[in-house]
Amino acid sequence: MSTKPSTQPLLIRNADIVTADSRYRADIYAEGETITRIGQQLEVPVGAEIIDATGRLVFPGFIDPHVHLYLPFMATFAKDTHETGSIAALVGGTTTYLEMCCPSRLDDALEGYELWKSKAAGASACDYSFHMSVTRFEKHTEAQLREIVRDGIASFKIFLAYKDFFGVDDGEMYQTLRLAKQLGVITTAHCENAELVGRLQANLVAEGKTGPEWHEPSRPESVEAEGTHRFATFLENTGAAGYVVHLSCAGALQAAIAAKQRGTRLWVESVLPHFLLDKTYAERPGVEGRKHVMSPPLRDRRNQRVLWDALAAGLIDTVGTDHCPFDTAQKELGESAFTQIPNGIPGIEERVNLLYTYGVKRGTLDLHRFVDVASTRAAKLFGLFPRKGTIAVGSDADLVVYDPSYRGTVSAKTQHTNCDYSGFEGFALEGRPAVVTVRGRVQVRDGVFVGERGRGRLLRREAGY
Ligand code: URP
Ligand code: ZN
Ligand code: ZN
Repeated sequence: MSTKPSTQPLLIRNADIVTADSRYRADIYAEGETITRIGQQLEVPVGAEIIDATGRLVFPGFIDPHVHLYLPFMATFAKDTHETGSIAALVGGTTTYLEMCCPSRLDDALEGYELWKSKAAGASACDYSFHMSVTRFEKHTEAQLREIVRDGIASFKIFLAYKDFFGVDDGEMYQTLRLAKQLGVITTAHCENAELVGRLQANLVAEGKTGPEWHEPSRPESVEAEGTHRFATFLENTGAAGYVVHLSCAGALQAAIAAKQRGTRLWVESVLPHFLLDKTYAERPGVEGRKHVMSPPLRDRRNQRVLWDALAAGLIDTVGTDHCPFDTAQKELGESAFTQIPNGIPGIEERVNLLYTYGVKRGTLDLHRFVDVASTRAAKLFGLFPRKGTIAVGSDADLVVYDPSYRGTVSAKTQHTNCDYSGFEGFALEGRPAVVTVRGRVQVRDGVFVGERGRGRLLRREAGY
């Protein structure tokens, strides 16, 4: 591990700088954690670390708007710590993540918030913040949420799914959105109809349909479309701003687009698995299928084209991962019934490279949209811009010097996330970060973490959406 001081100045020479709306060649100089100069032929100050970016692209640090690291869920815990998850994130070019802080309905919200903060503090190697889940709404909830927002949190999270565990009813959704509107925070939502999911699951299991291939039929597209439409209707009638997480299919997208067209303040996230994997992965026999169980489920393949087109057209605003690592032993908890399979697929390490390879390199995604959906838009929505999400004087020196000539393959054997499989095993990669910096400090070189553990800081919101 490197022992260089974190304040060492950094000069990136010959950078082909790509942001969400510009591309130009310049040198970038960072001192004391922020970018202090961008220009031609900058002089080299004494003691500066110099990186030659010739032949590379230089992007703002990427932001994953949806991850789970500490997560008690479905009778077990997600496998990553903030240490392992942040190193995986950084190796893949993600310099900031937003973790879902998810106390259950039985837990106290404020205690949960403190617990989630304690798991990240001193452990994460990159910067982070939280979406604060509201999993029940009682008398004291409003005061607690006000306190959490005062602490700098910019977004709430609600689940319309996972009845009795994380899920809220319509009354609780209404109260959450009313408060969010007052506080000027955005509410993110998992949109599936919990009642229908429960009924369909019970019917399938009663018919002896217990394998992972029945997970998707238990949460069909119409169930997600209904959740998305209902969330949008509540936004419309409260005036609150909302963000649909992990939108997976055409029906839900249509509901979101219709709401946007009516003027609802609604943004849409889709996540990596839904762009690249389809339901046949979950139909594989045994644990191979269980590895690919997440919610909303992997869908019929026809939805992938719909999502890529919507991303290119600006109808999907961000691409996250919903990184949620449960290993194969944990997936076996669902051996006797798909309803017991811990839901989730890891992806924090692969997001940027797979999006670059299958979006930009395949000609589906413009390079600037790529930066926007993987970094800038999330920074703007969640109160981090322009500190994060761009390359500008005054911004944090979170930089990804990207090597577009790299060729590789995704493999669980070489990944840094604490999981014994990859949902994207064998996928080709055409590009990866050569250097990744966090606030001016080199954290990664050529796929190797070389930086400072625990460097990450909790980011507090700077501006509203
Ligand atoms: O399957 C998933 N998505 N697991 C994580 C929890 C959630 O719904 O985001
Ligand atoms: Zn979810
Ligand atoms: Zn999630």
